[in-house]
Amino acid sequence: MTPIEASAQLSDGGGLRTERLLLRLPEATLAPALRDYYLRNAEHFAPYCPRRPPGFHTVEAWRERAVVQREASLAGYGLHLLLSSSQGPANEIIGDVNVTNIIRGAFQAAYLGYELDRAHVGKGLMHEALLASIAHVFAHLNLHRLMANHVPSNERSGRLLRRLGFSVEGYARDYLLLDGVWKDHVLTSLLNPHFRA
Ligand SMILES: CC(C)(COP(=O)(O)OP(=O)(O)OC[C@H]1O[C@@H](n2cnc3c(N)ncnc32)[C@H](O)[C@@H]1OP(=O)(O)O)[C@@H](O)C(=O)NCCC(=O)NCCS
Repeated sequence: MTPIEASAQLSDGGGLRTERLLLRLPEATLAPALRDYYLRNAEHFAPYCPRRPPGFHTVEAWRERAVVQREASLAGYGLHLLLSSSQGPANEIIGDVNVTNIIRGAFQAAYLGYELDRAHVGKGLMHEALLASIAHVFAHLNLHRLMANHVPSNERSGRLLRRLGFSVEGYARDYLLLDGVWKDHVLTSLLNPHFRA
C-alpha cells in the first residue's frame, strides 16, 4: 500500500481506534471543536508553541487549517490526527498528533509533534495514541526515522518519548522560537526496524 492509499484508507475507514481513543484526520466540520480545543488549552500549550497571531482562535481560521492538514495527510506529505475519547462526545477533540516535514530520498524521516488536553494528562492517553500513530506511520508511510524534540524542562514529554523507545541523540541550543523565546531542545529519535528499502 502506498502512503497515499494508506491515508485514504484512514479517511474512508473513519480513522484509527485504540482501547480508549479515536484518531482521525481533520476535516472542515470539526473547525468549531478545533477552535474550542486550542482555546481552552491556550495557556497549557503556550510554552511549547510559537506565539499565536491575532485571529488564530477563530472557527474560520481553523476551517482553513483543517482543510490544509487533511489535504497534506491525503497527499502523503504529512499526517495530522485528532484525538477524541471513545467514551466521550465524538465531536470533542482532546489531543492531536502531527507528523510533519516528511523527507524522502536517502533520509526517509519526519518530525513528530503531539499535545493533549490539560484535563486528560496523566492517564496514559498520549502513550496509547502515539503507539497507534507510530505503528501506522512505520507500516504505511514506511518512514525510517521519526524525530521528536522537547525543551529540557518538559519532563512529561521526555518520559513519554523514552517509554516509547526514543533515544536521545543530542542537545540543540536555541532550537525553536517558542512563546517568543529561543529555547534549547533535547533531540530524540525512533528508528523503524521494519523499514522496507
Ligand atoms: C506531553 C504530554 C502530551 C504528555 O501527556 P501524558 O498524559 O503525561 O502522557 P502519557 O500518555 O505518557 O501519560 C503518562 C502518565 O499517565 C499515567 N498513567 C495513568 N494511567 C496510565 C495507563 N493506563 N497507561 C500509561 N500511563 C498511565 C502515567 O503514570 C504517567 O503519569 P506520570 O508521568 O505522572 O507518571 C502532555 O503533557 C502535553 O500535552 N503537554 C503540553 C504540550 C506538549 O508538551 N507537547 C509536546 C511538546 S515536545
